[in-house]
Amino acid sequence: MENIKEKIESLRNQLHQHNYNYYVLNAPLISDFDFDRMMRELIELESLHPEFSDKNSPSLRVGSDISKSFQQFNHKYPMLSLSNTYSEQEVADFYERVRKLLEEEFEIVCELKYDGTSISLTYIDGELHQALTRGDGEKGDDVTENVKTIRTIPLKLQGNNYPHEFEIRGEILMSWEVFNSLNKERELAEEQLFANPRNAASGTLKLQNSSIVAERKLDAYFYYLLGDKLPSPNHYENLQHAASWGFKISDATKRCQKLNEISDFIKYWDLERKKLPVATDGIVLKINSLEQQYTLGFTAKSPRWAVAYKFKAEEASTRLNSVSYQVGRTGAITPVANLDPIQLSGTVVKRASLHNADIISSLDLHIGDFVYVEKGGEIIPKITRVDLNHRHLAGEKVKFITNCPECGQKLIRIEGEAAHYCPNEDYCPPQIKGKFEHFIGRKAMNIDGLGSETIDLFFRLGLINSVSDLYKLNRSEISQLERFGSKSADNMLVGLEKSKEIPFERVLFALGIRYVGETVAKKLAKAFRNIDSLISASHDELVSVDEIGERIAQSIKLYFSEEKHLSLIQELKLVGLQFQIFESESNLNSDKLKDKSFVISGLFSIYSRDEYKSLIEKNGGKNLTSISAKTDFVLAGENMGPSKLEKAQKLGVAIIHEKEFLDMIN
Ligand code: IVH
Repeated sequence: MENIKEKIESLRNQLHQHNYNYYVLNAPLISDFDFDRMMRELIELESLHPEFSDKNSPSLRVGSDISKSFQQFNHKYPMLSLSNTYSEQEVADFYERVRKLLEEEFEIVCELKYDGTSISLTYIDGELHQALTRGDGEKGDDVTENVKTIRTIPLKLQGNNYPHEFEIRGEILMSWEVFNSLNKERELAEEQLFANPRNAASGTLKLQNSSIVAERKLDAYFYYLLGDKLPSPNHYENLQHAASWGFKISDATKRCQKLNEISDFIKYWDLERKKLPVATDGIVLKINSLEQQYTLGFTAKSPRWAVAYKFKAEEASTRLNSVSYQVGRTGAITPVANLDPIQLSGTVVKRASLHNADIISSLDLHIGDFVYVEKGGEIIPKITRVDLNHRHLAGEKVKFITNCPECGQKLIRIEGEAAHYCPNEDYCPPQIKGKFEHFIGRKAMNIDGLGSETIDLFFRLGLINSVSDLYKLNRSEISQLERFGSKSADNMLVGLEKSKEIPFERVLFALGIRYVGETVAKKLAKAFRNIDSLISASHDELVSVDEIGERIAQSIKLYFSEEKHLSLIQELKLVGLQFQIFESESNLNSDKLKDKSFVISGLFSIYSRDEYKSLIEKNGGKNLTSISAKTDFVLAGENMGPSKLEKAQKLGVAIIHEKEFLDMIN
């Protein structure tokens, strides 16, 4: 037994070290194959010997499938932000302020400002104890499980001169490479793209499923240590210690005494940063001595001993040739600037979104203007201003169109909204096409064998005008069409037939009601169970559903107030689409819990609390709110309240956990 324990520990230590060599030092000493072999051996031994489990074993880096909502915890030290400066003059002002306040020699550490999402890690006795996001600065989300999947974050520290307990703060990042390939995948899956690596990193960190987090290959740099017994009296040396414990600390860190050294650092990295694998948006300057940091102290929002200098977003000037207008599925009009192609941050920019009429008029755009295009933290380029020196060459002022560029209908503007809309939703071609595309999309009716080009063809031939016409297409008619053999006709018809099984919530989403996205459709389907109850729901009933606000409720009421929508639903019902939730869908109706009463307490990981409530009811059981002698079972999740636990034990009420409960009904 001792042998096995030693073997497990030795594997863990070796894997921690190889992991560090590979991910932090970029210098692996063994092959991937050998690494995987050792990992598999460890996983096998751990599963045979759960008595030697370790919450920070390197085997846990693969993540877990269990979904939980995050718990919040207070930060021991609040997470403040830095005050920003945008010019070297402002940096000089900072330097001067510090000089006057300290009245003694001082050193400034220059670092890169990494553009990701901040994280605070607590280590106790050399092991990762907790990872909290910034949250509101006072308290943050506990994302420890997700953070454990990040390979550059040590779960166990190396060496032995680390404090018994300390915090280390840093930035979680997604590299440009991972970001670009993730967005490519999302584009193919018709999912919304991440605007920049920062959003992608913070979105990933907040995922419920840590195995997806593990796949996303996040990275992390650390830049700030906190604790009572740090090894050195200055910041720079503490960072070097942290590096020796296994943390990834940037090499782009320099101690400076003079203002011109700081200037040189800024100039050098403003260019050099473009070669880095991750996004940076500035430089951070910190007073090196902790004693001097203490003297300078904090304002309410930020330390007086540090400041950020933000790089200017890259910009270039180019000619505005024309403005075109795109019409979306809901009729919203997006103005787009067509530009002379120009190289900017590594890509050629030809077009930039102008968003809406207000933006066009605030820029005072004229055709032929030379405009400045900027690519900042956001990936889509934007026009920031007009170069007035070239104005004499410019032509006509850009006026927002009054009529739809596709169908000619007069545009409208809904009060309180920035966008213009084309109200001709039934006859405006891109709107009709857009609605079809939405309807057949993967997250809606998911109709195989039917794509955008086919929709275009059918529409031009007058075979389809409304989505219900899809279900009336005739095999012999379509198989005779050019480019359309009987095989593809069959595929499409099978796809359409299969879509009749698609559950109500997705049919509801497929209808394309404005503001009813995937999640809202789910909530509505669950709350109203069938389309007729939803159609007759009052405004108040709608807004009483979780996440449904005024704007969504109004849009739903408006949609169902139109005769043409009601008849479309009628037709779709007739062809056999699902317009209600079937109780049998859950396959859980039984009387297995007849005469049994339950109290639910704590946090659950397999189903939510509400889902357990409904499972109890569906199987004939009763939900009670408090424990009494009449309670048969307490269904206990994590962190069940201690007083409830005590009461249940005192009254001899059986305490069961998720798995046992599911066994009872299954
Ligand atoms: S020091 C109290 N150093 O920028 C000072 N922050 O607005 C704590 N950041 O919240 C921050 N690189 O998310 C520091 N080298 C660096 C940084 C850095 C990026 C982020 C961090 C912080 C924000 C400041």
